[in-house]
Amino acid sequence: MLRATMSSTAPPQPTVVLGVCGSIAAYKVAVVARLLVKAGVRVMPVMTRSATKMLGAPTLAGITGNRVHVDMFDPSIAGELHVELASEADLIAVVPATAEFLSALATGRADDLLRATVLCSEGPVMVAPAMHPRMWAHAATLRNVAALRADGVEFIGPVFGEVASGEVGEGRMSEPEAIAEAILARLAQVATGAHRDFDGRQLVVTAGPTVEDLDPARYLSNRSSGKMGYAIAAAASARGAQVTLISGPVALGAPAGMNIVHVRSAREMQAALDAALGPELTRADALVMAAAVADYRPGEVHAAKMKRTGATTLELVPNPDILAGIGGRREGGKPVLVGFALETVSGDALICAARDKLNKKRVDLIVANSASDAFDGDDNRIVLVSRDDSEELPRASKRVLADQLLDRLLPLLP
Ligand code: C5P
Repeated sequence: MLRATMSSTAPPQPTVVLGVCGSIAAYKVAVVARLLVKAGVRVMPVMTRSATKMLGAPTLAGITGNRVHVDMFDPSIAGELHVELASEADLIAVVPATAEFLSALATGRADDLLRATVLCSEGPVMVAPAMHPRMWAHAATLRNVAALRADGVEFIGPVFGEVASGEVGEGRMSEPEAIAEAILARLAQVATGAHRDFDGRQLVVTAGPTVEDLDPARYLSNRSSGKMGYAIAAAASARGAQVTLISGPVALGAPAGMNIVHVRSAREMQAALDAALGPELTRADALVMAAAVADYRPGEVHAAKMKRTGATTLELVPNPDILAGIGGRREGGKPVLVGFALETVSGDALICAARDKLNKKRVDLIVANSASDAFDGDDNRIVLVSRDDSEELPRASKRVLADQLLDRLLPLLP
């Protein structure tokens, strides 16, 4: 057996088989391995032959304290290595995953140790792709990704950003911290057995800002990275929900495994929501409205760029309050409605403002946060405010908070 002997009193140590493919991004897997080890995970590295050309096996052996396996047939090991590794793993994460690896996995090839180990596993398989944006967008890759998603493979990224060639697009590997965070969150779900508790549930999540055009060069918008909404959508999808993510313009890669609708303005978001929820609002079990919808839009959209003419006044007209509209139309408990309240106050004043919003918009739960905590970063501090209660959650990453929000949402679902 490969498992190290543990004292009977020690909590079980989660084991991750960390697969590494031959992409230039392979050097970043060292950071992922380090973060997992620091979080108490036993990491068993498996590298493809080409990965060893990108990163030295001794680096991963040193960081993880475990032997790095490359060969399928290792004479020094009795038994079948891929079977042993797959049975030991609570989760397999492939970081980075190349287009070649995705293609092999999509067709079930098992001609090296990593592929055979993944094929032999019954647990979650997560992949963090890294490739040139044209490879990621190629029809063959899209086909393979769709097939793998249907097989239950979970994708971490890729994200939009600079790739090795210096070009910019979608295909850059997610940052090592985000990858480690996603793996740890998934391991926590495996440990609690909570990982498919949203099976068969339909969730609609909105995220990011809306953008209200003034002329071809200028617009009115809200400060919102979209990270909280994307984290909620990813967490719900990982827990088995069928997710429709309605996103304003953000600089985040499209998460795999869900239906994504890109919108720009509040009115486009409203139309996308009408389609996703249906005329009777019965198509979703819950709506999580994390988007920062612009409350106003310019009264007139100029076809040509406005010229500087000294002092000027803009006429703004109110946008529809989308959530309040849905809250007002809802009959019965479906969909469960979760709103967000971003305020510049904190403490009791924040809770008060959130409860006021909950009543006015007729929603079931408000996620309240302060502007000083929420913007841009990967962490947040939130208070969950319901009709009769409020619960302050400790500061944590947006992904961890997303799971905690879903834990509270689940018992409210019809
Ligand atoms: O009133 P306030 O903008 O603070 O409310 C925030 C909540 O209402 C968020 O859930 C946001 O998505 C939603 N909202 C909306 N339509 C608007 C403004 C906000 O649905 N026009």
